[in-house]
Amino acid sequence: MKYVKIIGTGSSVPEAVLSNSDLEKMVDTSDEWITSRTGIKERRIADKDTASSDIAYEAAEKALEAASVNPSDLDVIIVGTITPDFIFPSTGCVVQSLLGAKKAYAFDLMAGCSGFLYTLHVAQGIIKSGAAEKILVIGVDTLSKVTDFEDRSTCILFGDGAGAAVLTASDEPGILSSILNSDGRDWDLLYVPAGGSRTPIGEEVLKTRDQYIKMKGNDVFKVAVKSMESATINAIKEAGLAPEDIDLFVPHQANQRILEAVRKRLNFPEEKVFVNLDKYGNTSGASVPLALDEAIRQGKVKEGNLVLFAAFGAGFTWGASVVRL
Ligand code: UT7
Repeated sequence: MKYVKIIGTGSSVPEAVLSNSDLEKMVDTSDEWITSRTGIKERRIADKDTASSDIAYEAAEKALEAASVNPSDLDVIIVGTITPDFIFPSTGCVVQSLLGAKKAYAFDLMAGCSGFLYTLHVAQGIIKSGAAEKILVIGVDTLSKVTDFEDRSTCILFGDGAGAAVLTASDEPGILSSILNSDGRDWDLLYVPAGGSRTPIGEEVLKTRDQYIKMKGNDVFKVAVKSMESATINAIKEAGLAPEDIDLFVPHQANQRILEAVRKRLNFPEEKVFVNLDKYGNTSGASVPLALDEAIRQGKVKEGNLVLFAAFGAGFTWGASVVRL
């Protein structure tokens, strides 16, 4: 078994829709500003009783069904998230329990919006080592739980969602390249200051609203464009391909202007770039697998096609990968 292949995907989003016009009533913003600066029209928001594991579980069930794999056949479950249900235990263990995947071991991995690409990379390594045959990878985030709905510069961007994929050892080509990068020097350009061991939640934190996302959007924007451009070029090269070989580019859905810049750099026609950020906003770790699952279910890609993934997020972390479906 030389290769690692995606054999099923699934996704889930909460029902409640928060539109740009809803946000106009909450902060000083406008549908026109949000649409022109980001491309986002609406996003999904989890209710107070829904945690990351709940939508991760729904996405996982759909991916397992698509792959015709039983939870009991899973060797490993890896969840990429920055909004776990708890500080501990891992959301992976909660999902394992919901699925009844008794044989598997489960863990979480934190890589911001690049979480899903990191799970793919790690799962590929485990399968290639011979230590596992079937791995469930999930990208999930409920960023609404750490979003400050009084901060117009961030609350218009994010939404909640989950996407999952089942990977297996295979004789046929699957993941053809996987490039990961991080640069921790800029960790404080996009982060949640409180709630961890540096600043536990207390009364002072609630006054400063440090339990919520802080982002220097403009700085993040510039690095995101450059990093996604270089990672995509490297991933295509590492796969031994040229940009024109790619059937569909499935990028992290952060901002239409970022996608447009990367698309132009790769010289892709518009129809080769999958976009659903208008419906969901930036769903962080869920963004790439949610987009992939929608692209597959809408028939935009099918078995044998070449898909390019790219992501960028807090850390900073970024990466790209070329996969034959
Ligand atoms: O998932 C990976 C991590 N995140 C990202 O990739 C996000 C990357 N950054 C972005 O997408 C963009 O930087 C934003 C969409 C967040 C902001 O767009 P921008 O073009 O970089 O705007 P800006 O931050 O430079 O702000 C321009 C103006 C400012 O007003 P002044 O100072 O020029 O008077 C802001 O106060 O727009 C103002 N502004 C808003 N106005 C209306 C900021 N947010 C809003 C808002 N509505 N929601």
